[in-house]
Amino acid sequence: METTVTTTATTEVDIGLGKESREGTIKILTALLADEYILYTKTKNYHWNVTGPDFNELHEFFGKQYEELDEMVDEIAERIRQLGGYATGTLAEFISNARIKEEPGRYPDARVMLSNLLSDHEHIIRAIRVDAETVAGKYSDMGTNDFLIGIMQKHEKMAWMLRAYLE
Ligand SMILES: [Fe+2]
Repeated sequence: METTVTTTATTEVDIGLGKESREGTIKILTALLADEYILYTKTKNYHWNVTGPDFNELHEFFGKQYEELDEMVDEIAERIRQLGGYATGTLAEFISNARIKEEPGRYPDARVMLSNLLSDHEHIIRAIRVDAETVAGKYSDMGTNDFLIGIMQKHEKMAWMLRAYLE
C-alpha cells in the first residue's frame, strides 16, 4: 500500500531541505507512525489480556512498554509537523499504512504474546535501519537521521527486554 503524504501549504518551511526531501522523509515517518500505533495498540491489548502465573509481572511490563510507545508515537507525529507535513491521526490510515499486522479475535498465551511483540519490534528496527540511511543519503536530512537512530535504539532496548523473558 502506497503511503500518501499531505504537506502544509500555508507557511513555507525554510530549514535548508527542499520540498521533495521533506516529502520523502515525511512518507518514511508516516509509515513508521502507523507501525508504532499498531504496536502500541497490540501491547495495550496484551496488557489487558495476558494470563498465567506471571500475570502481574507481565501486566506491569506491557503497561510500561505501551507508555513508552505512546511517547514515541507523539514524537514521530510532531517530527512530521516540524517538516511541514500533516500527521495522520486516524485509525483507518494507521491500519492502511502499517507494515506490521494485527490479529483480531486472537488472545495468545503469554509466551506467544512476548514473541509476537519481539518480532514486531525487530521488524521495526530493521525498517528504521534502512530508512535512516535513506533520509541521510537520499534526502540529506540529518535531523531525521539522528531522530530515527534514537527511536531505533529505544526499540532495541525494548526488544532486549522481551527477548530476555523468552530465554
Ligand atoms: Fe492498565
